[in-house]
Amino acid sequence: MTEYSADFRDSGLIFPEEFLLGSATASYQVEGAFDVGGRGPSIWDTFSKTPGKVLNGDTGDVAVDHYHRVEEDLDLMAELGLEAYRFSIAWPRIQPLGTGPALSEGLGFYDKLVDGLLQRGIRPIATLYHWDLPQALENLGGWPRRETAEKFADYAELVGAALGDRVSMWTTLNEPWCSAYLGYGSGAHAPGRTDPVSALQSVHHLNLAHGLAIQRLRSVATNDPEFSVTLNFHSIRAADENSHDAVRRVDALANRAFTHPMLRGEYPADLLEDTAELTDWSFVYSGDLKEISQPLDMLGVNYYSTTTVRQWDGSTAKQSNDGHKDMGGSAWPGADDVEFIQQPGPYTAMGWNIAPEALEELLVSLSQEFPGLPLMVTENGAAFEDEVIDGAVHDTERTDYIRRHLSAAHRAMARGVDLRGYQVWSLLDNYEWGYGYSKRFGIVRVDYDTLERLPKDSARWYSELIQTRTLPP
Ligand code: NOJ
Repeated sequence: MTEYSADFRDSGLIFPEEFLLGSATASYQVEGAFDVGGRGPSIWDTFSKTPGKVLNGDTGDVAVDHYHRVEEDLDLMAELGLEAYRFSIAWPRIQPLGTGPALSEGLGFYDKLVDGLLQRGIRPIATLYHWDLPQALENLGGWPRRETAEKFADYAELVGAALGDRVSMWTTLNEPWCSAYLGYGSGAHAPGRTDPVSALQSVHHLNLAHGLAIQRLRSVATNDPEFSVTLNFHSIRAADENSHDAVRRVDALANRAFTHPMLRGEYPADLLEDTAELTDWSFVYSGDLKEISQPLDMLGVNYYSTTTVRQWDGSTAKQSNDGHKDMGGSAWPGADDVEFIQQPGPYTAMGWNIAPEALEELLVSLSQEFPGLPLMVTENGAAFEDEVIDGAVHDTERTDYIRRHLSAAHRAMARGVDLRGYQVWSLLDNYEWGYGYSKRFGIVRVDYDTLERLPKDSARWYSELIQTRTLPP
């Protein structure tokens, strides 16, 4: 792929050697093997098999069969020269009912994955929870129930004891915003409940789960562990000068509901006020915030697009373009008079607007708000309508998307942000939740009939970038 080299040499945008350039996936989206090795059902198994929940009725039963093709996928990562691989561990593979001893076959899979990464010189970044809650725990109440956080801490310790001699980068939760508000508020994600109070209870119990898990991991992980959480920060703009309060409210629900308890040991006062008609937050027990606000070594940032909000006065039909499927419920408890405006394009195949400059702003503002806390872009990438032409995928739009966001990340670093790496979402085309297999985010194409892997042009480009560490401006 030498065609890019000239560009790279001329640019001067160089990423330091220690900046980790890699790629990410998540268990339910890639593994398949849903009933292998004693794995129990997760809320996504149940949700995806409930008619009408997922486009085309797609499920993760097979996904891209990563469970059985792990050696091939590891070789692919090595061939591309990835420096890091961010994956998640499926809780129901370790504890099929969300409680009790760890299943050796489940742990064995992640053992093999971690060893395979290390043998190839690829840094494992392990996420404990990327949305596949054991169904048995949902049956007992799910994230709105406090005990789920305690169970999560037990699970974290089991995983830490098994992998903590080799894994050093740990992420507790991936995008708890989605777990809480899409899972229990809007109903777009599993378990598909639509109750605003349950969504807020979930916020707190996910925060608690994060803090308890770090403490338990810390007690068993021996390889100089670093702890983080990955949040999907909303980069929010006001549609007009009357909408600044709407921005504040959405920021409280989406961003500060997680960062403030985790990093400052408090819930934002305005969040409590804005939601006071729904709940008095008495599910927050004294001492919880201390448990939650464990020291973090890094903050994971998932970024795809921006959000524009407008104060809604009820005189027009309400827009609700918040980037997620409309399944009837609201993902925004207590913010019924806020509307989410269609963004100016261009768009990806998800209908999400492309705005790399907002990534720069976000990284700069996070580093100002939380000085001394290193950041990592733990996800960024795009779905496009890929075509296979003569055995190749010329996905120039995806390459362009990644290039422009990396460039934004680089600008943020030039402005002093301590950014430790960038993980492309995703290594492989995979199961895009409510959209099933219809949206392809991979830099590697997967043929869903044969499960064959085919690196797209973006993968080759990324591989070249990793080798040269230099980006065209
Ligand atoms: C965020 C999620 O973590 C990931 O699972 C999802 O596929 C991507 N965004 C794209 O929507």
